[in-house]
Order: sequence, then C-alpha cells, then structure tokens
Amino acid sequence: MEPTQAGQVVVIGSGLIGRSWAMVFAGGGFKVKLYDVVQQQITSALEYISKEMKELEKSGMLKGTLSAEKQLSLISGSVDLKAAVEGAIFIQECTPEKLELKKKIFGQLDLIVNNDVILSSSTSTLLPTKLFTGLKHVKQCIVAHPVNPPYYVPLVELVPHPETETSIVDNTYALMKKIGQSPVRLTKEIDGFVLNRLQYAVISEAWRLVGEGVVSPADLDLVMSDGLGMRYAFIGLLETMHLNAEGMTNYCERYREGMIRVLKTFGPVPEFSGEIEQKISRAMSENTPADPEHLNARRAWRDECLMDLAKLKKKMKSN
Ligand code: NAI
Repeated sequence: MEPTQAGQVVVIGSGLIGRSWAMVFAGGGFKVKLYDVVQQQITSALEYISKEMKELEKSGMLKGTLSAEKQLSLISGSVDLKAAVEGAIFIQECTPEKLELKKKIFGQLDLIVNNDVILSSSTSTLLPTKLFTGLKHVKQCIVAHPVNPPYYVPLVELVPHPETETSIVDNTYALMKKIGQSPVRLTKEIDGFVLNRLQYAVISEAWRLVGEGVVSPADLDLVMSDGLGMRYAFIGLLETMHLNAEGMTNYCERYREGMIRVLKTFGPVPEFSGEIEQKISRAMSENTPADPEHLNARRAWRDECLMDLAKLKKKMKSN
C-alpha cells in the first residue's frame, strides 16, 4: 500500500457503514469527505473514528502504513454535497436502506458529477436496475456491498447495472484491492446478491432443523462456529469439497448421490415467525439478553474476535 493517494473519496451518510468506509479509505491513504445531512451525525462520526483509530493503532491493527494521526487528518466532514463531490474520484453512498431516498440522492449526484467519477452504493438489498436506471451517469454506477463491520470483514460484492461500463467495474475492483478489501465480481444483478443468498440458504435449513426439534438453537450455532465455520474463515465451500476427497471430481463421484438424497429432504421456506421464532429468540436471549447493553457487549466481543481472526488470516497469507 502506498502512503497517500491522489484523489478524494466521498462517503455519503456517516452512520455505522459510512464511518467504517471512511476509516478503510483513509487507511488506504485516500482523502475522505464524509457528507451527511445531519451535522451532529458527522461530529459524532469523527469522534468515533478518532477514538477507534487510536485504539487500533495501540493494538497494532490500524490498516495501512500511515499513523492514526495522519489518517485522521485525511478525513473531514461536510454538509454541502456540491462542495463535497468537487474533484472526487469515487463516491460511496451509505444512507438508510430506502429506495426512494437513495434514488433521490443519486438523482442529485447525477446533476453535479463529472463523467469520470465512480458512483457506488453500499446497499444490502436494492438492485442496481432499481437504483440507477434512467440516470445520465448510469454507466458510472455500481453497487459495492460491504459486510459489517467492513474494517475487519474485507469482502465487498461488486454488482454492476446492465449499462455499467466494464472499466468502472475494473477500477472499483482495483480500488477495493488498494484499500485492503476483498472484492468479488457479480456478472449480473440477482436478488440477495451472493452473500445473502448463501446466508439465507443456511439460515433456512437451520430454522427447519430447530423447528423440527432435531437440534437445540445453541447446538445448531455450535455446528457453525465450532464446525463448518472453522474452515470457512480460510477456504470456501468449493475448495472444502476439493480437499475433502481426491479433488472435486472424486468428491462428486463419492458424495453426489448422498448430497442429492439429503437435499431432496429439505422442507419449504420457513415463515420465520410464530412458535419457532419465539423458541429461538428465548434461546438466544439466555446468553445475550436483547437489550442494548448486552447486545453491545456481545458485539464488542465479536469485533475483538474478528480483529484477532484478521490478524491470523494476515499471518497465514504471508506464510
Ligand atoms: P445508518 O442508519 O447507521 O446510517 C445512515 C446515515 O445516513 C445517517 O448518518 C443519516 O444521518 C444519513 N443520511 C440520511 N439521509 C441522508 C441524506 N439524504 N444524505 C446524506 N446522508 C443521509 O445506516 P447503516 O447501517 O450505516 O447503512 C447504510 C447503508 O449500508 C444501507 O444501504 C445498508 O443497507 C448498507 N449496509 C449496512 C450493513 C449493516 O450491517 N448495517 C451491512 C452492509 C451494507
């Protein structure tokens, strides 16, 4: 990673995801303008970022090669959209997940941006055709969907609009690499993108198994955290198959029939409500009561685990 980069990045919306993106871009050496409609949000975001970066520096987990002080000096706030996007090379939108609001923001940007800047949305669920169709600058638009918390979980799903230029996808991919994230390309939009489609497939079967009383909610989670998840932090599903036999072809030969037999026993899509929901909710609340204090404490522990895992992944890569 180079120390500082030419070009300014704009983050629109300074909530949970916006502040994380600001930190990731500053870590990559980019100047960042953090834009929001609420001045207080910007103030609290800058305070949060300052505190986080200093702590990350102490624990040796600050991204990039610049000091926390230098990275902080790269980030500034703005409540003036036109001034914020002036000269920007990349704009990452992180406003609430509401289609009409996001369309309004991209409509405003469409009127003031040049023909070179990349317009990117953090949306988790909205498809590029819903967000960008009809914009004059549609060729420059893309979804770059991060995973929370983006500072520790590097994956970014890149989803183009059918009219997005290939160079925009390529440049976004290169930028994400440059700031230390892990981009993946989708060749076309699909509801749920890839991460949530995989996640929902697993949640769906988990719900059925607990609902049918095959396994308790706590044990179900252990199957993931102490079983499947142990591998998945390092190798994906497909490589797991490849390694679990003498290569993929051999895996299919051995397990094809069994997989199909089991998959045919999967039930319908759950309702995610009623008695099963209550049962799972009670079980989850035993460990972590669903109030802000307990949830935040558990989230802090999760982030600490992710930080240590990120350290281990870095070490394993350099070996
Ligand atoms: P949030 O509610 O924490 O932050 C939204 C921010 O946008 C607030 O600071 C708000 O003041 C600001 N805002 C509202 N209207 C605005 C406007 N017109 N112009 C500029 N700023 C405005 O939301 P969060 O969780 O950060 O989510 C942002 C986006 O990121 C959403 O699209 C969400 O789907 C996506 N995302 C969220 C993840 C999560 O786990 N929270 C994970 C991945 C993506």
